[in-house]
Amino acid sequence: MLTRRILGIITIAAGIAFATAQTRPANANACIYLSGQDSKPADVRQYIGVDKCKLCHIKKTTGEAYMVWKKTKHAKAYEVLASPEAKAIGEKLKIEDPQKSDQCMKCHSTGYGSKTEEFAATFKKTEGIGCEACHGPGSEYHKEDVHAKSRDLGKKAGIIIPDEKTCIKCHNKDSPNYKEFDFQKFYKEIAHKNPEKEKK
Ligand code: HEC
Ligand code: HEC
Ligand code: HEC
Ligand code: HEC
Repeated sequence: MLTRRILGIITIAAGIAFATAQTRPANANACIYLSGQDSKPADVRQYIGVDKCKLCHIKKTTGEAYMVWKKTKHAKAYEVLASPEAKAIGEKLKIEDPQKSDQCMKCHSTGYGSKTEEFAATFKKTEGIGCEACHGPGSEYHKEDVHAKSRDLGKKAGIIIPDEKTCIKCHNKDSPNYKEFDFQKFYKEIAHKNPEKEKK
């Protein structure tokens, strides 16, 4: 119990330290991003993992998107492939382990189909359908002085503002568990609007 709490505090402290380092204005990297596309090195955008987004998107001012996401089924999309239900589907299709099968992981993970070099060391496939499954790989846009500064800068660095088309890459009839996809209805269940932004 006590060790857990101490570990928790250490994690939070490290998180704050890291977030502070990340938001420091005018750091060396920022210049690369802000000086335009031409000076950017080889254009490999990496999936960096949901914990990187969490650093900022657990705050009231950023709409607490992480907390909303964590409660959705998307956060369990990997875990659920180990359930008895998943194993039963797997057996019918002669899939031994759904968590290791492309036939399932292609819709139950983030960045499916990308090359190894497109995943940063911080990325974990266990996160399920993470932020970057819908918003695109974050290595170039995740810093505050890029995507939080303007949508234009964010988009140039690869951020996606998702819509129905993003969803139906996975919510379609190739899914063994397909439920009729109704964007308005489904979107309500995962929506993470930033109320602070609307006040402005
Ligand atoms: C250093 C802090 C920080 C990190 C790290 C961060 N964000 Fe943000 N993000 C912000 C702030 C601040 C805003 C602006 C306020 C808002 O729209 O919530 C923002 C805005 C956004 C927006 C809205 C953009 C728009 O044009 O409307 C999206 C989408 C987003 N972030 C996704 C992500 C994702 C995905 C990650 C991880 C890959 C991430 N962010 C990492 C701070 C951060
Ligand atoms: C085309 C994308 C796609 C593929 C391929 C896919 N799934 Fe899914 N899966 C989904 C979606 C989307 C849902 C959510 C149900 C819905 O709304 O359609 C889901 C839901 C599930 C659920 C239900 C979870 C719950 O919360 O009730 C299980 C179990 C599951 N999938 C197992 C599998 C297994 C096992 C495979 C591989 C044989 C697989 N899926 C392949 C997209 C896919
Ligand atoms: C299943 C897809 C999906 C996932 C996963 C997802 N988002 Fe989003 N996100 C959306 C959609 C759709 C919108 C609304 C886009 C629009 O404004 O039209 C959105 C909007 C946002 C916004 C802008 C909110 C506002 O009020 O303008 C932020 C910030 C954001 N997402 C951050 C995140 C973060 C951080 C994560 C991971 C913890 C995440 N999202 C995971 C689909 C997703
Ligand atoms: C990369 C694949 C992928 C994308 C993109 C995606 N989803 Fe999902 N979604 C899934 C999977 C897989 C599940 C089932 C996860 C589980 O049950 O653990 C799911 C489950 C859901 C559920 C819960 C359904 C239920 O049966 O209760 C909702 C709601 C949902 N998604 C909405 C959306 C919306 C809205 C978008 C687009 C903005 C979207 N999803 C984009 C793969 C995806």
